Amino acid sequence: MSKTYAPHADMAANAHITAADYEEMYNASIADPEAFWGEHGKRIDWIKPYSRVKDVCFDYGNVSIKWYDDGTLNVAANCIDRHLATRGDQTAIIWEPDSPDDDALHISYRDLHKATCKMANVLKGLGVEKGDRVVIYMPMIPEATYAMLACARIGAIHSIVFAGFSPDALSARVNGCNAKVVITADEAPRGGRNTPLKTNADKALAKCDDSVQALVVRRTGADVPWSDRDHDYNALAAAASDDCPPTEVNAEDPLFILYTSGSTGQPKGVVHTTGGYLVYAAMTHQITFDYHDGDIYWCTADVGWVTGHSYIVYGPLANGATTVMFEGVPTYPDASRFWQVCEKHKVSQFYTAPTAIRALMGQGDDFVKKADLSSLKLLGTVGEPINPEAWNWYNDVVGGGRCPIVDTWWQTETGGHLMTPLPGAHATKPGAAQKPFFGIEPVVLDPTDGSVIDGNDVEGVLCIKDSWPGQMRTVWGDHERFEQTYFSDFKGYYFTGDGCRRDADGDYWITGRVDDVINVSGHRMGTAEVESALVAHPKVAEAAVVGYPHDIKGQGIYCYVTLMSGDEPSEDLRKELRTWVRNEIGPIASPDLIQWAPGLPKTRSGKIMRRILRKIAEDDFGALGDTSTLADPSVVDELIANRMNKG
Ligand code: WTA
Repeated sequence: MSKTYAPHADMAANAHITAADYEEMYNASIADPEAFWGEHGKRIDWIKPYSRVKDVCFDYGNVSIKWYDDGTLNVAANCIDRHLATRGDQTAIIWEPDSPDDDALHISYRDLHKATCKMANVLKGLGVEKGDRVVIYMPMIPEATYAMLACARIGAIHSIVFAGFSPDALSARVNGCNAKVVITADEAPRGGRNTPLKTNADKALAKCDDSVQALVVRRTGADVPWSDRDHDYNALAAAASDDCPPTEVNAEDPLFILYTSGSTGQPKGVVHTTGGYLVYAAMTHQITFDYHDGDIYWCTADVGWVTGHSYIVYGPLANGATTVMFEGVPTYPDASRFWQVCEKHKVSQFYTAPTAIRALMGQGDDFVKKADLSSLKLLGTVGEPINPEAWNWYNDVVGGGRCPIVDTWWQTETGGHLMTPLPGAHATKPGAAQKPFFGIEPVVLDPTDGSVIDGNDVEGVLCIKDSWPGQMRTVWGDHERFEQTYFSDFKGYYFTGDGCRRDADGDYWITGRVDDVINVSGHRMGTAEVESALVAHPKVAEAAVVGYPHDIKGQGIYCYVTLMSGDEPSEDLRKELRTWVRNEIGPIASPDLIQWAPGLPKTRSGKIMRRILRKIAEDDFGALGDTSTLADPSVVDELIANRMNKG
């Protein structure tokens, strides 16, 4: 039995949801989703109220997901305008710059309204209309949020590309959604170094249609190359009106596209729509973090990931919260930065990834202890399973044993939290995502035949039985791929791609991906993407990529590479391949270990047996299983003999 931590009495006394509330509301949400979500849809303002709540079909071949589909609204009006009367002067965004020597900004809801309207008018001036796509490739600066909300305000669909992605990755996404405009900045300061964002965008745009325009925000003021397609955001915004009426859109009009990795092929454009997404982001933000008026909430994610969308911008702002936006990194100028920022801005709720916790834990407790963290009330984690050692350190050293930890399990596809303990309701268990959120019915299936595994103390693949308002609706431009990816393996369910265990108490533990997706420092990556980057190198004949356990990153990237005949392995070539992959995808995809493989284990029909490669990378030779179907079993011995050392 693992140790549990009961809700703290003062937290439970004031919490939005107590243990009794949870039971009652959860049961109601499953018994009558229409009634439950019909009521909670009223959390946001509608221009035309909905009369229909849910219209969903999970049958493979006919998958269709609609929520509130005869209602109309505007997301920016919900995140800004409706707060102006009551909290116009309240800080909406606290922006903390990369360098602690530069001033933080406190942006009020009134300021946010003006800035968003200006950005919206600038976009309109560039010809952006409702339904058009706008790619955002930006540092973590307030203008990134203005850009998101400006798109929402005029009904344009944004697609954010993480600023750490390479020009090639950016051009693929711009072309993938036929964006009209790319919003970028001159440079992106991070950890004391400036990434030449505009130069990267230029390289990407060279591979896009000439009609694609660039809107360039001045962040550092550096001299950057300029061409006919470029527009100076600061000059245009200075001249633009700060009034822009919100465009009425349908609940099922797309709000954004976010490219994410899957087990096969190139990243797919996850489509989230307007009404259901906002209801779900707002509700989960309020309840999971037990957000109350006056709290200062900080999520350390980047807006380039879904966590930044739902829990820096849309959820908090829909709730009229004060949300912190941080441009920098946890270890600059030193490993106490996160805690200094918590002290400086009196942060109440702090939400980060296990990889950051592990990295900071390794730097020792003094960096934490020199900051006054008495404002903290709650801690959260997201992105990957958290090991109990990191959980305990987070709890004891950062939270001082006072702050409940919410371990939130969810995905780009889910829009918001699907499983998490609630801080005033549940005794937490280190490492468990534990309880389904309202309306979420998890099912554990047998991976071999898809049958439902009932009862407790069981393990299998994790599916979800019915829809929730924040669920993705389709893959941009490829509904068939959507159905194939999520609804074809286990008919009638949404397949998450994760494995899970339901323990003796009925609590859920996520055991990790069961497909060829790996999770490196909380960044999701398809092994197929890294493989296709490797084989694009002229000296590489074949490559197979798997994850292996890594102390800080959670998983590291292990590559087996077969060279073209005539090409010799060398340390220089290893370095070259690393740089190559960084250039193709971005630094987050940089291979940790590259093993030269004269041959790869294949079946007689030519299929690479990744199961075996995974076991070798994991150092788990005893569990290789049946190798008799291999065309040439001797390659396995060769690979084991030359396995890369993790050290
Ligand atoms: C993993 C991030 C364990 C999981 C919001 C999922 C987690 C993938 C947790 C989605 C958690 C996320 N515990 N595993 N609390 N949160 N994951 O799309 O494998 O970047 O499928 O969304 O991260 O990653 P994504």
